[in-house]
Amino acid sequence: MIYKFPKNFLFGVGTSSHQIEGNNFNNDWWFAETNKPKGQKFPSEKSGIANDFWNRYKADIDLVSELGCDIFRMSVEWSRIEPREGYFDNEAIFHYKKIMEYARSKKLKIFLTLHHFTIPIWFEIKGGFANSKASDYFSNYALKCVEEFREYTTLFATINEPEVLISSGYLHGEWPPFEKNLLRTYLALKNIFKCHNNAYKIIKNKYSVKIGIVTNILCIQASSNSFLEKFLANLFQNLVIFNSLNSVKKNLDFIGLNFYQTFKISGLNISNKYEPHDEMGWYLNFDSIRIILNKLKKFKLPIYITENGIADESDKLREWYLKYILISIYEALTLDKVNVKGYIHWSLIDNFEWQYGYEKKFGLVSVSRNHNLKRIKRKSFAYYQLICKTKQVIE
Ligand code: BGC
Repeated sequence: MIYKFPKNFLFGVGTSSHQIEGNNFNNDWWFAETNKPKGQKFPSEKSGIANDFWNRYKADIDLVSELGCDIFRMSVEWSRIEPREGYFDNEAIFHYKKIMEYARSKKLKIFLTLHHFTIPIWFEIKGGFANSKASDYFSNYALKCVEEFREYTTLFATINEPEVLISSGYLHGEWPPFEKNLLRTYLALKNIFKCHNNAYKIIKNKYSVKIGIVTNILCIQASSNSFLEKFLANLFQNLVIFNSLNSVKKNLDFIGLNFYQTFKISGLNISNKYEPHDEMGWYLNFDSIRIILNKLKKFKLPIYITENGIADESDKLREWYLKYILISIYEALTLDKVNVKGYIHWSLIDNFEWQYGYEKKFGLVSVSRNHNLKRIKRKSFAYYQLICKTKQVIE
């Protein structure tokens, strides 16, 4: 069977600044990587030079182009663009423009994320997103980015996965600023959504660009037909979806969906320890994305799948995963009429996987860390290339 996507459906790959650029020494992650906070199981490795994308961007964008992608998701690093409060670094801005210009010369549409997990040290010192003025700082930065980069793209996401960032940093204490405080979690969450809402209003007042947010939505299913499990699954699912999106829904031109994980409710337990799973231990289930996409229909907004992929160093599962997840998306698009605009695979390339350092491999391309960061295409690169070029999946 052939699943033919519409001509205007966008296929792409995604990346983020701190995970690939290298030498992002002026942000909260770098600080934590180099000054391991006491008692933290923080990365065994430092991000260091990462993939040196900052210098090798041409070779990497060539790979995106070779894949036959329509769209490239990248992010800009706040700590490079605004290294000190209120001071914008023209050299860094110029360098990002060169990267975007190069992508444009390869006929790639850019999906630009303005904030992907890291914050400048100066903002961290002020309390980061727990600071009640966070939205003023963020909006100032976001407006500057749109002013500078709108020449290269009209598609901007303010913040990547606010709910993941704040829960990891303020509730579970696993990411900077390593807090475990319910009240501060609540404050930071409230402020980060305000950051989006304020930035949206200020930018839209001046420029006609498209602005969205990127949210990570887990799928929660009942493991049997039991009334209780179905009730709980539905309750938690709605909480996960609406918790993030209700706070920003009035200020969105599109939704960016990052989809990875499925959890099942069994009795009163919730777990993702099911088969098959990837190297993160994440249960892989294809129906889930269709279910989530259908739930998002309610917002009546275009949806970009901004991240989806698996950790699979030996590339055993990636092609199979890609095939069936895309069929599920195809069904949501064609049978359920969900307004999905595109699919951005995570990731183009193995990268700095936050608390896991370089251990988990999400890339279509691997990086030989002992051989001058040599890029090596995995087998699934050719598989995804065929999909991007033909816009179809064959079962
Ligand atoms: C993040 C990425 C990360 C991926 C895989 C997403 O939640 O946005 O930065 O690499 O998950 O863990």
